[in-house]
Amino acid sequence: VALRGQTVAFRADPFLDDPSRSLVHERDGLVLVEGGRIRAVGPYAALAPTLPPGTELVEYGDAIISAGFVDAHVHYPQLPMVGAYGEQLLEWLDTYVFPTEAGFADAEHAARVARFFLRELLRCGTTTAMVYCTVHPQSVDAFFAEAERFDALMVAGKVLMDRNAPANLLDTAQRGHDESAALIRRWHGRGRQHYCVTPRFAPTSTEAQLDAAGALLRATPGLFMQTHLCENRAEIDWVRELFPRRGSYLDVYAHAGLVGRRSVFGHGVHLGEEDFCTCHAAGAAIAHCPTSNLFLGSGLFRLFDAVEPRRAVRVGLGTDVGAGTSLSQLQSLNEAYKVAQLTGHRLHPAQGFWLATEGGARALHLEGRIGRLAAGADADLCVLDPRATPLLEFRTGFCGGIEELLFVLMTLGDDRVVRATWAAGRCVYDRDREGDPFSY
Ligand code: GUN
Ligand code: ZN
Repeated sequence: VALRGQTVAFRADPFLDDPSRSLVHERDGLVLVEGGRIRAVGPYAALAPTLPPGTELVEYGDAIISAGFVDAHVHYPQLPMVGAYGEQLLEWLDTYVFPTEAGFADAEHAARVARFFLRELLRCGTTTAMVYCTVHPQSVDAFFAEAERFDALMVAGKVLMDRNAPANLLDTAQRGHDESAALIRRWHGRGRQHYCVTPRFAPTSTEAQLDAAGALLRATPGLFMQTHLCENRAEIDWVRELFPRRGSYLDVYAHAGLVGRRSVFGHGVHLGEEDFCTCHAAGAAIAHCPTSNLFLGSGLFRLFDAVEPRRAVRVGLGTDVGAGTSLSQLQSLNEAYKVAQLTGHRLHPAQGFWLATEGGARALHLEGRIGRLAAGADADLCVLDPRATPLLEFRTGFCGGIEELLFVLMTLGDDRVVRATWAAGRCVYDRDREGDPFSY
């Protein structure tokens, strides 16, 4: 199958090179897909004559074909309480998150939310996400079962939590280890699914549990690790009280063997230079979650400090729903731009789109495989309609070029812009299809 439309790709990292020159745009482009992978990308005029006989051509007109978005940090069980009023992190967890997550003891409820969540992700053009489930193993089964139906590449895991939360949400170091090990055997590397060892954050795990998480990582190569780090001032003070012998919040995780390649730390709003150096050296990544950090009043992540070339940290973009307020990475970029403004920087549209695709892939050490519109990458794509709403149609009519168009999509766009989403070479969501827009 071949997709025809405008194509947007990258020839370089726009945080290292000139952003305008890093962007590769074809006004009339073609993406040839074969066996779940991208076989070729280029101008329609050059590629069309080379198409194998019988190739199906999907015409997207002036819509923009991009690599699918990567969401580097999101909680699917929090979708029932997204947009909850009035609290900052620690009170918000107690008031809204823990009662909501308790409901996932019920496997049927978990299946229903997972099904809705996966569809919402695809409707937003997100093809890979790093996902927190709950403490209940059945919440993980529900999530992977649904992801597998779409053959979407997902990374997810059971939350580990053995203190400082309601009793009905606690495991123990041993039980959390054993339940995670069973889930790893069941799901890690099955199709496109990947397991992620998931201690919620330092305050809700004993040192024994963090050590057990480290043991899980050492036992199975290729696993991922996700947790929260330096999101909120009160949280950081609490970690200092709970772990008085550690040099820093990040050091609590490092001591347990949790800082390495494929480790993704959510937020990192209040990290310092030494922490950035540690992450750089370890190949660990940070998920920048701007809608969440603004919503909970956590602070302004210093993206441009993190990616400073002399010790660049891998940074992905996370929606962090339910603290984040949208599953649309276009909306994350809208807020990321404003956070950059408030910290004295300018997030160029090429940097924005790179962050939401290739940046996320690099955070997961999956660059080359996902997040890239190039031959050899998996055919995970989204197709963005620049005329999706009356305002967009009006505004994009005044755009002088692709950079302005991408920037307008970043600021005015959301789920409504997504015309179609492809996973592993199949169209899994088509906004304009009669009947059910989803297929697997
Ligand atoms: N820190 C610990 N748990 C959470 C969570 O669920 N959401 C956010 N934003 N921060 C956390
Ligand atoms: Zn989170």
